Amino acid sequence: MSEATGKAFYVTTPIYYVNDAPHIGHAYTTVAADVLARWHRQRGEDVWFLTGTDEHGEKVLRAAEKNGLTAQAWTDHMVETAWEPMLATLDVTNDDFIRTTQERHQVRVQEFWQRLNDAGHVYTGSYTGPYCVGCEEFKIASELLEGDLCPIHGYKVEQLSEDNYFFKLSSYAERLLEFYAANPDFVQPESARNEVIKFVEGGLTDLSITRSTFNWGVPVPWDPKHVLYVWIDALLNYVTAAGYGNDPEKFARTWPADVHLVGKDILRFHAVIWPAMLMAAELPLPHKVFAHGWLLVGGEKMSKTKLTGIAPQQITDHFGSDAFRYYFLRQIAFGQDGSFSWENMAQIYQSELGDQFGNLGSRLTSMVERYRDGVLPSGTLDAALADAMRTAVAEADAAIERLAFQDALAAVMAFVRIVNGYVTEREPWKLAKDEANAGALDDVLYSTADALRAMAVLLSPVMPKACQLLWASLGAESALGPLSTQRIAAVADVHLPAGAVVTKLAPLFPRLEEQPTVVPA
Ligand code: ME8
Ligand code: MG
Repeated sequence: MSEATGKAFYVTTPIYYVNDAPHIGHAYTTVAADVLARWHRQRGEDVWFLTGTDEHGEKVLRAAEKNGLTAQAWTDHMVETAWEPMLATLDVTNDDFIRTTQERHQVRVQEFWQRLNDAGHVYTGSYTGPYCVGCEEFKIASELLEGDLCPIHGYKVEQLSEDNYFFKLSSYAERLLEFYAANPDFVQPESARNEVIKFVEGGLTDLSITRSTFNWGVPVPWDPKHVLYVWIDALLNYVTAAGYGNDPEKFARTWPADVHLVGKDILRFHAVIWPAMLMAAELPLPHKVFAHGWLLVGGEKMSKTKLTGIAPQQITDHFGSDAFRYYFLRQIAFGQDGSFSWENMAQIYQSELGDQFGNLGSRLTSMVERYRDGVLPSGTLDAALADAMRTAVAEADAAIERLAFQDALAAVMAFVRIVNGYVTEREPWKLAKDEANAGALDDVLYSTADALRAMAVLLSPVMPKACQLLWASLGAESALGPLSTQRIAAVADVHLPAGAVVTKLAPLFPRLEEQPTVVPA
């Protein structure tokens, strides 16, 4: 979306439960959203990127009790000591951070449900059935393992029996199916879309939307002995933070969201319940829900509830935040499950980031210092490199459009390999030995430097720190302005000017020796 239409590109992560500290699964979604936000900003678009925390419900309440704190004190503590710091650790550039205990959220949640109640979308009834506190989800008996185990957490579900309020979800099945048919990209990837359609085709049951056995939640406005079910409070964060019911100008700029990034564990909430809620409220639906796969531990979903998480910082302390951001998007096709291994990460770090990308930057900048006193000579951009650059830009941009982060990085890394091959083949260190080859050497230095300029722009959404260092050492900051002002579409048309002041780049991804042991956080 462009500034001309007044609509920002709006991307969200799930808001995470604060029952415990984040692990690399939460970091994974958050980094993917950040890369998307940064890429769209680099395209010159207005962007709005939201993340935050889901603080109500039984699961968080139980964690607080276990730790001897009130629910509010516990959530404040977790947000301040764990969830906000994760964003800094990973260089995340979110525009807002919503907490569901904030007044701005709770007021709008109450207004939303009061409206739906007034309009006849809610009725009273009683619910008896299985509930998984880990998922905060009413389960369907047929999906339980061995009769009573949650398929995600592997724990026994609890039997819930309550008088409460219901949302007429069942009456939306037809409209939802029509919507999926008319909007084939709404749920992605294809496997997720098929799963959702199959689920809705099986028929929907009405949704119990209130709880009365505890009070850690948003009070039901028309019956404050009850609190709203945590999910129908949490989903609304995407509009309450975006100005719904409070800031019409902001809401027009942001809503509908362009993409909700979620893990496949919470696909149904986002692709079924959420659009039905919006239909009931007559609000526009988001453009896309993308469900990525799980990071696995021993073949199972890494989980706070099961205490199998690895803290992001254990990895960033060793490899740095750029390598963390690169690794997960490069190694796992977005949409598929994957797993982290220290050995695999070390290998990717060394080969692709150290030997291929970082080393190219060090070699080029040191040659310009040595052979041309740190001043970029004028030269002719190699035609094959210029073509490869154009291809990399087009392929990466198209891949990001599909949320195929892995393909986007593969396209840029293919270009990095081509440029390395070019340098190896031209042997500038030999050209430098004979003054007669000065022009040829100038061409190699110029072409390689300009290729590195392109890499800095294309990789900056994924590895902002390394790319900024590279940008500065190429002299591009003074010659072309800040990296953030470089546009993706212009990468193959803008070039480093001769005379740019190049300074030797310290290794961006230095060799790492020992391998610490990773233990669950
Ligand atoms: O579900 N692999 O919060 P949550 C990949 N509060 N991603 C993972 C992961 C793993 N092993 N584990 C977690 C909730 N995630 C609700 C959301 S939204 C209105 C409310 C990521 O703390 C992934 O994005 O359980 C997953 O969907 C999310 O964290 C679940 O976080
Ligand atoms: Mg969960």
